[in-house]
Amino acid sequence: MRFPAYALTLLLAAAPALAQEKVLNLYSSRHYQTDEALYANFTKQTGIRINRIEAGEDALIERLRNEGERSPADVLVTVDAGRLWRAEQLGMFQPVKSAALEARVPESYREPGGRWFGFSLRTRLIAYNKAKVRDGEIESYEDLADPKWKGRVCMRSSTNIYNLSLMGALIDHLGEQKAEAWAKGVRDNLAQEPKGGDTDQLKAVAAGLCDVTISNQYYYARLARSDKADEKQVAERIGVVLPNQKTWGAHVNISGAGVLKNAPHREAAVRFLEYLASDEAQRYFADGNNEWPVVASVKVDNAVLARFGDFKRDRLNVAVLGRNQPNSQKIYDRVAWK
Ligand SMILES: [Fe+2]
Repeated sequence: MRFPAYALTLLLAAAPALAQEKVLNLYSSRHYQTDEALYANFTKQTGIRINRIEAGEDALIERLRNEGERSPADVLVTVDAGRLWRAEQLGMFQPVKSAALEARVPESYREPGGRWFGFSLRTRLIAYNKAKVRDGEIESYEDLADPKWKGRVCMRSSTNIYNLSLMGALIDHLGEQKAEAWAKGVRDNLAQEPKGGDTDQLKAVAAGLCDVTISNQYYYARLARSDKADEKQVAERIGVVLPNQKTWGAHVNISGAGVLKNAPHREAAVRFLEYLASDEAQRYFADGNNEWPVVASVKVDNAVLARFGDFKRDRLNVAVLGRNQPNSQKIYDRVAWK
């Protein structure tokens, strides 16, 4: 998500620092239509007003770094466990012990020390050109390394957090050696040098530049739900597979949040995280980006996601994706996957 520069000038300082006033200062890299209702309902329930700073993921972390101990931020909301892990490594979060969060957020979707929690789920699915690939012809991430796909695979850059986190999971399931062999195999199968984001890969597959790729499901869902004829057509030309249903399950990642180390309003911050795990907030949070709630009993009304049905998800704790990140990048570098 990109933000215009002026978004950063929404100064928190504009809010009067009344000791009695109940406020929460939120730094978020998410920005969706459902956000207004999400935040308004929190204020309605708790009387806590939310000051929001929205910016790109890396810009927010940079800002927090610069502000240091004097940061007014209470909560950081961002995407990908790998990015939450980076913030954790920089010592930005404080541990939160909350029975409500532990009861609502499944163990594999939160950092074991309580430093950050997942609130919605995304998966990296395999997308293929329906005119060139048969239904069932590709079923797993491992398949993408098969020489039969030589010159037929499109992938985005390995420096992208989604691919780093996917590799983090592959290292855990396959071991480093096999994970590297996989990366080399996929790299050798590339139809073109990595460029662009997930949507660009989907468009390249639809246009016949390559036959298969990997993308987060919400990019596909956005195209499928688009009002624009050309975007809809991209989705119509593509078949999607939730990978590894016969083995360890589809790789899942999170959008999540944590309470910042120097949070001036700690209590409000914890309450906000607990609110995000509530039924109502779960729906808004997931639906805003065509994601799944982390609380399994909460259902979203989303026609594209409904088509996927229930599927087998990787049970690996998402914190491992971060822990493996340095090795993931080394593996990609060794096989010269740009
Ligand atoms: Fe994304």
